[in-house]
Amino acid sequence: MKPAPALPAAQPLDIVRVREDFPLLGRPMRGRPLVYLDNANSTQKPRSVIDATSRFYSEQYANIHRGVYFLSQEATEAYDRARARVAAFLNASSVREIVFVRGTTEAINLVASSWGRGNLGPGDEVLISAMEHHSGIVPWQMACRAAGAHLRVIPVDDDGELILEEAERLFTSRTKILSVIHVSNALGTVNPVGALVAMARSRGVPVLLDGAQTISHRAVDVQDLGCDFYVFSGHKLFGPTGIGVLWGREALLDAMPPYQGGGNMIELVTFETTTYAPLPYKFEAGTTNIAGTLGLASAIDYVAGIGYDAIAAHERKLLDRLLGGLSTIPQVRLIGNPKERVGVFSMTVDGVHPHDAGTILDLEGIAVRAGHHCVQPLMARFGVPATIRASLALYNTVEECDALVAG
Ligand SMILES: Cc1ncc(COP(=O)(O)O)c(C=O)c1O
Repeated sequence: MKPAPALPAAQPLDIVRVREDFPLLGRPMRGRPLVYLDNANSTQKPRSVIDATSRFYSEQYANIHRGVYFLSQEATEAYDRARARVAAFLNASSVREIVFVRGTTEAINLVASSWGRGNLGPGDEVLISAMEHHSGIVPWQMACRAAGAHLRVIPVDDDGELILEEAERLFTSRTKILSVIHVSNALGTVNPVGALVAMARSRGVPVLLDGAQTISHRAVDVQDLGCDFYVFSGHKLFGPTGIGVLWGREALLDAMPPYQGGGNMIELVTFETTTYAPLPYKFEAGTTNIAGTLGLASAIDYVAGIGYDAIAAHERKLLDRLLGGLSTIPQVRLIGNPKERVGVFSMTVDGVHPHDAGTILDLEGIAVRAGHHCVQPLMARFGVPATIRASLALYNTVEECDALVAG
């Protein structure tokens, strides 16, 4: 399938118009304008996404793949179009490679469970990195435990970058899969996935990339990346919660057993045996999040309408301003200093617990995340139990960056 033709990029980004697209950004918070800097956690939704989901419920609602009547057929066609939109967005070879799931967490669980069952055995190794989100650790731990396999971990240096020489050393004849985060949710590091994929492919090892933090900042072309699985969540791409995507190479998905059994994923059922539906339905048991897929397709259209070049340039400007401002405050310690990064970073403030700092900022209407960000091993690597994390999106402004520094 060919990628959809690129829409003209709004260069430079018209921030006033963009903010008007997001109704919640106009809500005052504690008597001040809301400063929403928790976008790595979840992003706000443009009106077009809200409308796409609400229109489905108010005007088009029916279950898919089940009815011969008009409404059901219409809903099925809309669902299929959403899948085609996602396939074009990722430059997938086919719609059969796009599996709708609840989010990144479910996608990684699906691969770890289903691919793991067929491919992991006693003594085998799964290679991950020290900056994985818990959802890139725990599912693989569970799969390893079930198979008698072991986790191996690529370490992170003081700048918050993966140590590639160590990665090279950690590949062994027992390495069965490499599963790494594309962009760190705590540090903002953009990992050198080209080099990692090359290392893995030269050894015949498949690669899963966790794109949860990539997808709102950078364009993703799965064929260009050369990986085997790519996963992300809709709610981090200005889309609804409860919807996400697993992209996998068709041959790999085809060879994998179903993740869950039930309706929709079958071809023929008897009490003796069941034959399964073809891809991608084999992995979509039960009634899926139909409204979520329509909202996701609408979110993709929204981002494409703005253009990733404009988004990246805008966020770079904001990040430079933030990091420049924060570096003048002696009590602030920034965690890591990766060369290639997106607008996400973690910090601590001397003598102030991150939760207290988060609460003080909240009193000024500033929403940041304080905690371990579901990366406890990475926090341990940097010797901190928790940090304050600020994360940017296309709708943030210079004034909001200055508010955080002042706060
Ligand atoms: C890198 C990364 N992976 C996985 C996840 C889990 O995403 P979800 O909760 O949408 O499944 C997150 C969420 O913060 C994340 O940042």
